[in-house]
Amino acid sequence: MGQGEHLERDPSPFRIGIVGAAGRGAAFASSLRSLGARVQAVCDIHAEGLEQTRLALGAAHAYTDYTQMLEAGDLDAVLVATPMHLHVPMATAALERGIAVLSEVTAGVSLEECQALVAAAARSDALYMLAENYCYTKANMFVQGLVRAGLFGEPYYAEGEYLHDVTELAERTPWRRYWQLGMRGNTYCTHSLGPILQWFGDDRVVAVSCVDTGQHRRDPRGEPYAADSSTMLCRTPRGRLIKIRVDLVSPRPHAMTNYQLQGTDGAYESSRDRAGDRGRIWLRALFEPDAWLDPETLMRLPEVGGRYLPPLWWDPPTAALQAGHGGGDYMVLHDFIRACRGEIPCPIDVHRAMDMTLPGLVSQQSVLEDGRWLPVPDSREWPSQPRRSQLNMLWPEEQLGSPPQVVVPPGYTLRQYHEGDEREYLALLAAVDLAHWDAERFARVQATILPGGFFVVTHDASGALVATALAQHNPRPLHPQGGEVGWVAADPAHSGRGLGRAVTAAAVQRLLAAGYQRIYLLSDDNRLPALHTYLAVGFRPYLCEAGMAERWEAVYRALGREG
Ligand SMILES: NC(=O)c1ccc[n+]([C@@H]2O[C@H](COP(=O)([O-])OP(=O)(O)OC[C@H]3O[C@@H](n4cnc5c(N)ncnc54)[C@H](O)[C@@H]3O)[C@@H](O)[C@H]2O)c1
Repeated sequence: MGQGEHLERDPSPFRIGIVGAAGRGAAFASSLRSLGARVQAVCDIHAEGLEQTRLALGAAHAYTDYTQMLEAGDLDAVLVATPMHLHVPMATAALERGIAVLSEVTAGVSLEECQALVAAAARSDALYMLAENYCYTKANMFVQGLVRAGLFGEPYYAEGEYLHDVTELAERTPWRRYWQLGMRGNTYCTHSLGPILQWFGDDRVVAVSCVDTGQHRRDPRGEPYAADSSTMLCRTPRGRLIKIRVDLVSPRPHAMTNYQLQGTDGAYESSRDRAGDRGRIWLRALFEPDAWLDPETLMRLPEVGGRYLPPLWWDPPTAALQAGHGGGDYMVLHDFIRACRGEIPCPIDVHRAMDMTLPGLVSQQSVLEDGRWLPVPDSREWPSQPRRSQLNMLWPEEQLGSPPQVVVPPGYTLRQYHEGDEREYLALLAAVDLAHWDAERFARVQATILPGGFFVVTHDASGALVATALAQHNPRPLHPQGGEVGWVAADPAHSGRGLGRAVTAAAVQRLLAAGYQRIYLLSDDNRLPALHTYLAVGFRPYLCEAGMAERWEAVYRALGREG
């Protein structure tokens, strides 16, 4: 049984939203389906044809506004397949909402935004992975398996080349004209550098030198491209040298998966991507001196391929064989989903994504300085910003004698939680994307609820549990002897009826009746409907630390109300 089938049998579908769905994003749909994931939503500003894209990808929802897709609250992850300069803002927006991200390459287009991405990933509980699919081709994973088994000895030199004339494509995707063909340097280097870094294990590039060939081609408007061919040399702390050539301009047949590797005990030269061209490999431990062998043949041998290929590539599901980029598109999704489910560590996390992206960004400066060697920052050393504290709100002291009114709209009933509600209750919290609950956490929270303080609202017609809030005894350093209005949730399908307001007011009433003088609640900046509700019930912002006033100003602006 291949590992792909394992995912197919998982009972809880992984819900993914694809942004850039009318472009590259669509290419992932069939792999996602065969991995048992659900394309929950698609998003593209290309409104014309969006419905067709939705149908083609089998998505439940279509959006032209990315924020709306994120705010719908029904996604486990997003696949960011928009133009390069949108990767960071879109990835950070998802991470800030606790939604996992699989981002197309490159990770970012400037050092500053890469820092923002790393900070966002550090603040978030959600996983970030770079979709560097070339790391996942069969040949590259085979080499990786051999390197890890020590069969190359100590690898010390590698080359990668991405030769792909995209000048015509850039006329249809103008962002390419600017971000890929308008920049000098090795910006689009991840397809070449990524697999090499995976072969080199935990090594990284610490310095680059880049030169190019100048301008020999012009676009249809007569403007020269920034440069035709550029070559970047990379040094690693372990004394390795890497040479990367990126050429997106020169007229020639594509050759996008060219690699070479040299170690003390082995050498590898990939096929140069032309029909009939074969790669070759020599490994001292396995073969006669001077005898090159064909990697394709070796990969088919159980004693070699069966041993050094990952099981999924040794026995691949049909969907993997049909997927784009030599099956890399399938494999990268497969690992992303497993990483999100905690089954494996993230194979290309935000720092590895930086290892693959930052050398190319630094090379833009090196080429301007005629190939001067420049240091490449290590994102692991960037100061990690502590997780942002939540917004705090207080029930005003002058209102301690005036409980808010509890208004339950017709057709709904406010009552206490009772046995048998658990499944629906947990589903409601999950629907509004409140933190993951398990039995242990639920028991811990239940111990803090005042008697008669576990409010739920049910919908009379369907019996569904549609809103909830807790009156909790929950002292914290900021709120000693504090009573908290906690875990407020209202089903978006029943929004606009004042249900959130009813349960919040009921919880405040309960805390006031119990004599609490300090009643507080916590929320996140992006939960605007909830913040609107709390303000409407009568809570006021508590400016408990520097920066809170600005954050509240932004909230008020977003809500369209006076501060
Ligand atoms: N890994 C690979 O092998 C590979 C292959 C091709 C492209 N890519 C990457 O995929 C990304 C997209 O490339 P492409 O060729 O599909 O480009 P494209 O321009 O054809 O498609 C991008 C799509 O994003 C949409 N879009 C743009 N702005 C948007 C916004 N604000 N909100 C929602 N949708 C928006 C566009 O309408 C378009 O449909 C790029 O980053 C590219 O580098 C990677």
